[in-house]
Amino acid sequence: MKLLKDKIHQDGLVLSGNVLKVDSFLNHQVDPFLMKKIGEEFVRRFSDEKITKILTLESSGISPALMAALELEIPLVFARKRKSLTLTDDLYTAEVYSYTKQETNTISVSKNWIHSGEKVLIIDDFLANGQAALGLCSIVQQAEAEIVGIGIVIEKSFQQGRNLLMDQNLRVESLARIKSLENGKVQFIEEENN
Ligand code: G4P
Ligand code: NA
Ligand code: NA
Repeated sequence: MKLLKDKIHQDGLVLSGNVLKVDSFLNHQVDPFLMKKIGEEFVRRFSDEKITKILTLESSGISPALMAALELEIPLVFARKRKSLTLTDDLYTAEVYSYTKQETNTISVSKNWIHSGEKVLIIDDFLANGQAALGLCSIVQQAEAEIVGIGIVIEKSFQQGRNLLMDQNLRVESLARIKSLENGKVQFIEEENN
């Protein structure tokens, strides 16, 4: 997605440890115009599917996921990382280990918000090692719903997340695929029509 890649080149900062900082439009301040275009692009890419719900993980997945949900006129559900104060619901849970942070989080979704037979599109801001996406997949499977695919805003293609998801025969659509962040420079994988 050219608009997104241009924005990353313009405003992204490469930090040590192969980390891309995009706080000016995605992870702290949010660019609603860009998010709207991102939502539309996810909908275009999955237009051959009948989707009934979008699932993401708080907090940075919410902005792009919400715009896709608005475009499809369907609800968005976000998995929580911390236990809710109103812990009266039955929950689907998954353990998500973060290599970056070296900690495990239990993510959860109330059984009220994903039902058996639903067709769920998972959306997240980053795909790195894939553990968050796999946790979200586990939650959809626990609900006996169908995973339509996984939509990612920024994929770090040099990490193993995409391969782990492809190994499970999951469809992954990433709007920007980063080949390398070496020498402080963002290099994308060039794709047709992208
Ligand atoms: P994984 O889920 O793909 O295995 O990712 P990992 O544990 O490596 O990453 C943990 C957190 O760091 C996630 O956000 C993920 O989106 C984010 N992340 C990974 N690589 C980068 C990067 O290069 N740049 C940025 N900006 N973020 C990266 P999170 O902890 O869930 O945070 P948030 O959703 O509250 O922002
Ligand atoms: Na993040
Ligand atoms: Na995230």
